[in-house]
Amino acid sequence: MAGILVSLTFCHAQKTLKDAYADAFRMGCAVNSQIAAGRDGRSSDLILKQFNAVSPENDLKPEVIHPRPDTWNFRAGDQYVNYAKNNGLWALGHTLVWHNQTPSFFFNRSDGTPKSHDEMVETMHSYIDTVMKHFAGKIDAWDVVNEIIDNDGSYRKTLWTNAFDGDGDEVVRLAFKFAQESDPGAELYYNDFNAWRPEKRDGIARMVRMLQKNGIRIDGVGIQAHWGLNYPKNEYITAAIDTFASLGVKVMITELDVDVLPLTREGQIIGQTMSDPQFQLEEFKTYLDPYRDGLPDDVQAQVTTRWKELMQLFYNRRDRIDRVTIWGLHDGMSWKNDYPIPHRINYPLLYNRDRTPKPAFEALLAIPE
Ligand code: XIL
Repeated sequence: MAGILVSLTFCHAQKTLKDAYADAFRMGCAVNSQIAAGRDGRSSDLILKQFNAVSPENDLKPEVIHPRPDTWNFRAGDQYVNYAKNNGLWALGHTLVWHNQTPSFFFNRSDGTPKSHDEMVETMHSYIDTVMKHFAGKIDAWDVVNEIIDNDGSYRKTLWTNAFDGDGDEVVRLAFKFAQESDPGAELYYNDFNAWRPEKRDGIARMVRMLQKNGIRIDGVGIQAHWGLNYPKNEYITAAIDTFASLGVKVMITELDVDVLPLTREGQIIGQTMSDPQFQLEEFKTYLDPYRDGLPDDVQAQVTTRWKELMQLFYNRRDRIDRVTIWGLHDGMSWKNDYPIPHRINYPLLYNRDRTPKPAFEALLAIPE
């Protein structure tokens, strides 16, 4: 018995995430510019060892690539694709049509007045065309449209939908059509948070069918998965995976992290900004940021349980899931330290700040056996 245990432990120590899940789905990790540029060698080494796909955390967003009307900046993006391709990693492009991290000149003329419908079509077309052609052959798939559906399943009122008089269908149709023309070799995805919410899930499904009816190609739907220790309910996640898979598109878990910190009264998971000054008060800070000095063992155990149940759920549905991507490598680099409340200490990823693996990491290796 002891001998079996020893050999199992030894076996896990040798195994990697990408090997453990090789027959199930791609294992991805989001990389920031330090990692892509080789300035965080320890993280980079771990990513190359453990993962076979990458997503760019910020480097392929419009504010980086096209910060001003006369400026195109592909330096960080090129670094990202070179990192991916030199190391044989599957590479996502993220993201073309999004209301966040997109400069206001996309939507307004230089005198500040809103662009006309035709000018907006031209803006979208030239951006998608320039960027996709620049990266053609190096990016395997693009998140063409990001976060355009609301919690109730209708289109969100965003800079993009407003610029098209609320006609979200037109925004999405044009974006996917231009994307298909600009780089026919890349897969084309829709990506969103809260995609497990039944009304939102069904709104996304309707949008996918709308594209399909119009003969416009969409290859996949990404479920972002910025989740917590006890939300969302697993049955919602399962239902969302099944709903999207039934549309005949690939399903991906694209930005997985597990928030361990308390939610605020407004229940921010994602999608709201934290502006209420009451949360700056000392007593709220103590309540909202309880693990500044480390994670207690009982919470660490909950973290392990949650990662295990999520990955088990994905593994059980591996015939419907193409990729599971974690939104960063180690806790110190996670956006969840600053969102939805800035300057907290969070523990959302599989590696500790010192790049040692968490018990959750070890637990995931054991699932596919
Ligand atoms: C986040 C990045 O992680 C942060 O570094 C940045 O400040 C804001 O954006 N949905 C998305 C991602 O599609 O692009 C976001 O990434 C997280 C939410």
